[in-house]
Amino acid sequence: MERFTLALIGSIALLICFTTGVSAAPPIVIDDCIKCHDQIVDQVSTRGGLHASEITCQDCHLEHPPKGTNAIPACSMCHAVDDKAHYAIENCQSCHNPHSPLEIDLGNTEVVKPVCVTCHDNEGTQLVEYQSMHSGLDCNECHLEHGQFLACMECHEPHTEEMVYNDCLTCHKPHMPTVVKYPETIPSSFCSGCHTTETEVLMANKTLHHDLTCAYCHKTQHKMIPQCTTCHGAPHDRDLHSKFPNCLDCHIDPHGLEK
Ligand code: HEC
Ligand code: HEC
Ligand code: HEC
Ligand code: HEC
Ligand code: HEC
Ligand code: HEC
Ligand code: HEC
Ligand code: HEC
Ligand code: HEC
Ligand code: HEC
Ligand code: HEC
Ligand code: HEC
Repeated sequence: MERFTLALIGSIALLICFTTGVSAAPPIVIDDCIKCHDQIVDQVSTRGGLHASEITCQDCHLEHPPKGTNAIPACSMCHAVDDKAHYAIENCQSCHNPHSPLEIDLGNTEVVKPVCVTCHDNEGTQLVEYQSMHSGLDCNECHLEHGQFLACMECHEPHTEEMVYNDCLTCHKPHMPTVVKYPETIPSSFCSGCHTTETEVLMANKTLHHDLTCAYCHKTQHKMIPQCTTCHGAPHDRDLHSKFPNCLDCHIDPHGLEK
């Protein structure tokens, strides 16, 4: 009797399983994921950024194996290729892990420049328009992480010992380094490493030019040559100036001025 009842219950259970198939199992819900994928749930909740706050696991993973064969989403499902130039590039996951999308390892990808310029057009354009030895470098040689950069001295010696990183930027812009511009406040000692003669001559000079800085006369742009008359007008009488149009015929040298 007992054996019969058990057998009957068993048959009914089998029958239910047979007729309804696997779908009898409750569908996997979001709270279930942690039971089997605790590391990923932890990764997404602590480092997922907007992929944690704006969407859930199941917005991306619409299906689950073994029944679902399409468990992995394409990025373009939500970041439509037509929306931004940045979404049209290939191999998104070489930079972005979908579970921690802003932890980008720029060292991981071979060529980043085409991707960087999808958002930073200015810097890309500068490097192209002002050809320099930097134009041939990829962005990630200086920007190892997004938003970070190497100081110039990681690759170069300063012109004089006193210079620190910010001084470099006073004269050079990293994406157009050969265009040297500077403010009038730049100390003359920054020029002296490369122009020892002019510096020594001016230092030894006893006239009032001795007290002027290099940048006071050579204003703004490297290699700019000032005219004496810009500051002094024509101080002597007209005859003298027309006879000797070149001030340096008498005054010899702006740095080694003779009175
Ligand atoms: C009962 C355990 C279990 C639960 C609960 C579970 N998974 Fe899985 N999941 C697995 C196993 C096991 C695999 C590996 C299956 C395979 O490779 O065939 C897997 C694989 C996956 C894959 C990879 C699929 C592929 O094609 O590589 C994704 C994505 C996934 N699960 C997402 C989820 C999400 C999202 C949830 C919560 C909604 C979830 N899983 C809940 C056990 C589970
Ligand atoms: C923005 C979409 C997105 C979200 C949100 C997301 N995933 Fe994924 N997940 C992916 C993609 C894409 C892959 C394939 C990764 C690969 O190819 O390496 C993946 C892979 C997986 C895998 C299988 C590969 C592995 O790394 O083990 C599992 C399991 C998984 N996800 C679980 C989850 C869980 C659990 C959540 C929620 C806590 C989640 N995912 C949230 C997009 C997402
Ligand atoms: C189910 C939709 C969906 C999928 C699939 C998806 N994303 Fe997203 N993603 C979003 C949403 C929603 C946001 C937040 C709003 C926005 O930026 O559009 C977002 C934001 C991001 C962010 C910025 C994150 C932050 O915290 O600021 C990155 C990076 C990103 N996604 C990359 C990817 C990559 C790479 C893939 C493919 C591996 C992918 N996404 C797949 C929906 C998705
Ligand atoms: C070479 C690396 C690289 C590749 C490849 C890459 N990205 Fe990005 N992505 C970035 C960087 C860097 C950011 C800026 C992150 C930040 O602002 O912190 C970013 C930001 C994003 C953002 C958030 C900002 C926004 O404009 O919406 C989304 C979404 C995104 N990427 C999606 C994608 C998708 C989709 C792909 C593939 C089609 C992709 N990325 C390929 C490096 C990359
Ligand atoms: C999806 C768009 C996007 C991509 C791709 C991207 N960036 Fe950015 N980047 C941004 C945004 C947004 C900021 C923040 C700008 C701000 O704070 O003014 C930023 C900031 C920066 C900064 C710091 C700016 C500052 O003032 O501190 C640097 C450096 C930078 N990005 C370099 C890169 C490099 C190199 C790449 C290529 C590997 C890249 N970016 C790819 C969007 C992007
Ligand atoms: C990752 C290494 C690296 C960093 C960081 C770097 N440079 Fe360079 N730079 C180079 C290389 C390589 C050259 C080619 C010549 C050489 O080998 O010195 C170069 C050349 C130059 C040149 C000569 C350009 C030409 O075309 O004649 C200037 C000027 C310059 N760098 C200034 C700077 C300044 C200023 C900084 C900081 C804002 C800086 N560099 C940061 C690698 C770097
Ligand atoms: C030779 C090194 C070097 C290379 C190559 C380089 N950068 Fe930079 N970049 C820097 C330095 C240094 C700064 C910081 C300048 C500052 O603090 O004013 C910077 C700043 C930036 C900034 C912040 C905005 C700004 O102008 O201050 C962005 C964005 C940027 N770089 C993008 C790029 C992109 C995109 C590429 C490739 C196309 C690139 N960089 C190549 C060194 C470099
Ligand atoms: C007072 C302005 C000034 C400052 C500050 C400055 N530079 Fe220069 N730098 C120049 C000039 C001018 C040149 C030469 C340009 C030429 O040859 O036409 C130059 C050339 C270079 C070159 C090309 C190689 C060479 O030596 O001729 C590199 C590399 C360089 N600078 C790196 C740096 C670094 C790194 C710093 C910060 C430590 C720095 N510079 C600070 C003005 C400056
Ligand atoms: C890194 C070395 C370097 C630094 C720093 C530097 N210069 Fe020069 N400068 C040069 C070189 C190289 C030349 C070209 C020399 C030549 O053509 O014979 C030059 C040329 C000049 C010329 C002459 C242009 C011409 O037409 O003959 C002037 C003026 C000048 N520099 C002023 C300055 C001033 C002012 C500073 C400081 C603000 C400065 N330099 C900093 C390397 C440098
Ligand atoms: C950027 C401005 C500037 C330029 C360019 C300039 N000077 Fe001067 N010079 C001065 C200043 C400032 C003094 C100090 C006296 C004054 O305020 O007039 C001075 C003084 C002098 C004096 C008098 C020196 C003394 O000790 O009494 C002579 C002579 C002179 N300059 C000649 C020249 C000649 C020649 C040139 C061209 C080779 C020249 N200067 C270029 C600004 C300049
Ligand atoms: C009073 C203005 C004045 C001051 C201060 C000054 N210079 Fe000059 N410099 C000139 C003028 C004017 C010339 C053009 C001389 C000529 O036509 O032969 C010149 C020429 C130069 C040249 C080109 C080569 C040469 O000697 O003719 C260099 C390099 C130079 N100056 C560097 C410097 C440096 C470095 C300093 C600071 C130590 C400096 N100058 C300070 C006015 C000045
Ligand atoms: C024929 C030679 C000669 C020529 C050319 C000449 N100077 Fe002079 N300059 C002198 C002599 C000599 C003095 C000193 C006499 C004095 O103290 O009155 C002098 C003095 C000056 C002084 C100082 C004036 C003062 O009041 O202390 C300035 C400034 C000056 N010259 C600028 C110039 C300029 C600018 C030019 C070119 C436009 C020029 N000089 C051309 C011979 C000359």
